[in-house]
Amino acid sequence: MDLSFKRHRRLRKSKAIRNLVRETHLHTEDLIYPIFVTEGTNVKNEVPSMPNVFQWSLDLLDEEVQSVVDLQIEAVIVFGVPNEKDDVGSSAYDEEGIVQRAIRQIKQNHPELTVIADTCLCQFTDHGHCGVIEGGTIVNDTTLDLLAKTAISQAKAGADIIAPSNMMDGFVVAIRTGLDQAGYEDIPIMSYAVKYSSAFYGPFRDAAHSSPKFGDRKTYQMDPANRLEAIREAQSDLEEGADFFIVKPALSYLDIIREVKNDVGAPVVAYNVSGEYSMVKAASEQGWINEKEIVLEKLISMKRAGADLILTYHAKDVANWLREERGGHEHA
Ligand code: PBG
Repeated sequence: MDLSFKRHRRLRKSKAIRNLVRETHLHTEDLIYPIFVTEGTNVKNEVPSMPNVFQWSLDLLDEEVQSVVDLQIEAVIVFGVPNEKDDVGSSAYDEEGIVQRAIRQIKQNHPELTVIADTCLCQFTDHGHCGVIEGGTIVNDTTLDLLAKTAISQAKAGADIIAPSNMMDGFVVAIRTGLDQAGYEDIPIMSYAVKYSSAFYGPFRDAAHSSPKFGDRKTYQMDPANRLEAIREAQSDLEEGADFFIVKPALSYLDIIREVKNDVGAPVVAYNVSGEYSMVKAASEQGWINEKEIVLEKLISMKRAGADLILTYHAKDVANWLREERGGHEHA
């Protein structure tokens, strides 16, 4: 037989050769781990729809943070679950708020750990929306002042990065200006620039008690059908002063991650959201999928799509698996 064709399998012949030609790598330094903090003492509540994810009171929080540090994960993002909620979300910018106290405590015990503050109002408002409500609508510009106040209080508490997730127009410039005026010019903004209105946030809303009490978030979060709008969102956030972009969710939006990576010159963060986590957990608890392999495949796909960093509830498991592999215990 005299056939001429390309032998792709040469580069797949052995594990060593496959390693040599691997185009994408996943590292522990790529991971950001989300932590939910809540009031009270002795609270370690597992979120029913998110196995192995807990709400922590501050007296127990160090157990969680220490485990993150021990695994050499270098960044966490803090979400607050406050007791007090009102119509303007004032516990979001209270210097003694749950997030501010948690940040101070984490930075005091672990100054080397990068602490990212999620900056939004929905966990702190009694109506569960991400902005101020007037006459039944979410008002953009009034909300901006409150977001800037929230970001400043988080920076004052010691946050290393501010991550505004609320999707009001102009939130990046409002926060940048507020931070600069308060003397925090060196605190970067990791903007949830491209945030879709997604059913994949369901379990997070259980974890953070942040479901809207009426309506939905479609007037401020993006329509999953839109691609060009994602570029417009990312570009305007860049002009307003964003230092990083989050694309959220991640798994159904890999095309958008690539698009933003190609078109907008800043580090891209994929947010592997709660629903994406819960689906894997549920199926693996049934024994229907291999959790480790599925999670590693998902995360490498996000990196391949262009993500520089991945925000994921799987971070501790992944750090453990990567460590095992470095230790030579990998199964083929
Ligand atoms: C707050 C916020 C949400 C998430 C992160 N920050 C919920 C929402 O917008 O409804 C979702 C994260 C996840 O699902 O893991 N605005």
